[in-house]
Amino acid sequence: MKVQLFNFEPQHLTLSNLVKIGNIQLPEFPLLLAPMEDVSDPPFRAVCKDNGAHLMYTEFISSEGLIRDAIKSKKKLDIFDYEKPVGIQIFGGDEESLSLAAKIVDATNPDLLDINFGCPVKKVACRGAGAGVLKDVPLMVRLTDAVVKSTSLPVTVKTRLGWDENTKNIEEVAERLQDVGIQALAIHGRTRVQMYKGSAAWELIAKVKENPRITIPIFGNGDIDSPQKALEYKNRYGVDGIMIGRAAIGYPWIFNEISHYVKTGEILPAPSVEERVAVCKKHLIKSFEWKGPIVGINEMRRHYTNYLKGMPNIREYRTKLVTLKGVEEIIEVLDEIVSEYSGYEFEKTPIELINYHEKCAV
Ligand SMILES: Cc1cc2nc3c(=O)[nH]c(=O)nc-3n(C[C@H](O)[C@H](O)[C@H](O)COP(=O)(O)O)c2cc1C
Repeated sequence: MKVQLFNFEPQHLTLSNLVKIGNIQLPEFPLLLAPMEDVSDPPFRAVCKDNGAHLMYTEFISSEGLIRDAIKSKKKLDIFDYEKPVGIQIFGGDEESLSLAAKIVDATNPDLLDINFGCPVKKVACRGAGAGVLKDVPLMVRLTDAVVKSTSLPVTVKTRLGWDENTKNIEEVAERLQDVGIQALAIHGRTRVQMYKGSAAWELIAKVKENPRITIPIFGNGDIDSPQKALEYKNRYGVDGIMIGRAAIGYPWIFNEISHYVKTGEILPAPSVEERVAVCKKHLIKSFEWKGPIVGINEMRRHYTNYLKGMPNIREYRTKLVTLKGVEEIIEVLDEIVSEYSGYEFEKTPIELINYHEKCAV
């Protein structure tokens, strides 16, 4: 069943509105998968790509870790042809480390290199990296300049509105970073001090976009959780595209749902059991292949609840999924779920955005 909304104005998509970052050609109003530590790894990116993400980013990677050759940091550099275009995100507070890290990233040949100036957690922001750099714009400019000069890739930045309520400097930051050569800017509509509290405010993002000096694409980020909200924010704030994080966790269909709604005004039906299980299986198999049998299966456990959300009396199956150790056995349980629930009509319930204020790894 497709629900037609009455107040929908069709969007006129034209070639002249395509969005470009360096040589990367994106469609009009691209939908970006946000970088998310412990989430936006290759298995998750694979299912987001299948479901309509136009540009994706890796989890953030420590520049110091890359230089030290830390296994965890190196592993995060893995990108695959089928996920292109894809950007690698790095963070750090030191020009030399960021410059060396940029050279390492360059050699792995992603489509772009993103600098994280938005991470709010203490261990990053209070050590002069991530959102901590928002307190010192000249340093931010030097760090960005060092990266731009160390790579042949287009450099982009992801940041927040400012450090706190009284120092929202994103308008200045956008101009200064564009001047040193960044080719797109993604802005999360919160300050560092807000972490994930309250609602993301997009008014300042719109101001950056409206600034006639700004010519690079501006992507809005924060709290997009439905096709209706995405279109409303597109029209109200005029951004070039939207970056989506939490809403995609367990629900990668959000990308296609938004694109379809923007083009047609139709809300697609909720994915069927068959679709949910097929995506879950792909995520599992990719995890197994990329992380190995033990870590791959363990880390996949946190995803089942999300994929199976809304199914009645699923507890017993879920318990099996999170205790079984063999990939074949897990796939058998997933197949049983399909037989048992085939034809089940999911309700279109709002996506719940978890407040990562306390829990979030970044
Ligand atoms: C689990 C998690 C991990 C995150 N890791 C990163 C990261 O590595 N780099 C980054 O720039 N932002 C990170 N973020 C912030 C997101 O990219 C995004 O800015 C934020 O979640 C707001 O968007 P949303 O409301 O669509 O989720 C993370 C967010 C979450 C929830």
